[in-house]
Amino acid sequence: MKIFIDSADLEEIADAAAMGVLDGVTTNPSLVAKAGRPLRELIVEICELVDGPISAEVHATDLEGILREGRELAALHPNVVVKVPLIAEGLKAVRTLSAEGIRTNVTLCFSATQGLLAAKAGATYISPFLGRIDDISGDGMSLVEQLVTIYRNYDIDTQVLAASIRHPVHVVEAAMIGADVATLPHKVILQLLQHPLTDIGLERFLADAKKIPSK
Ligand code: G3P
Repeated sequence: MKIFIDSADLEEIADAAAMGVLDGVTTNPSLVAKAGRPLRELIVEICELVDGPISAEVHATDLEGILREGRELAALHPNVVVKVPLIAEGLKAVRTLSAEGIRTNVTLCFSATQGLLAAKAGATYISPFLGRIDDISGDGMSLVEQLVTIYRNYDIDTQVLAASIRHPVHVVEAAMIGADVATLPHKVILQLLQHPLTDIGLERFLADAKKIPSK
């Protein structure tokens, strides 16, 4: 499973990239607003930090606007993937962008039927927001499982990008199911690394290392 970071914070992205664990980056308007930087210059800087797919979301919701913004974003850097909302105009735009060779990430997916349509339209990635489904007492991981099964049944190339991941168990379950990608907040990437036995073990080794005679 590929690991992307779900962030527009350059420090977080650089930190995860330095660990060698990053395959790509996803952003959304909320994350970019938090970063407080203009979208286009931020996306270019992210592309310079990580050599992998970098999702940048359009703000338009009409076909012409999505196409215009999508083409502009794609022209910023070869690694840009255009993130498009899962609405009818979005699917029309995905069809055209895909025919032009522009990769897309169809976002805000909350059902298998939406995911099937996005794949038919030619989406490169589908982003099921599993944490937000869990938030309303649903089962977000079953949506990931449904999408993986449906795409495999029909050899569909669209990659399942598990999004809105909230904790390490989500990551393990997404990997067990066979999601192609999981996009994780920086905090969750750090949580994946943590284990109290590693800390205790290291502390003991370092204490014992001091007892080793130097000569
Ligand atoms: O980037 C899309 C998604 O990962 C957002 O997650 O935590 O805002 O539901 P969240």
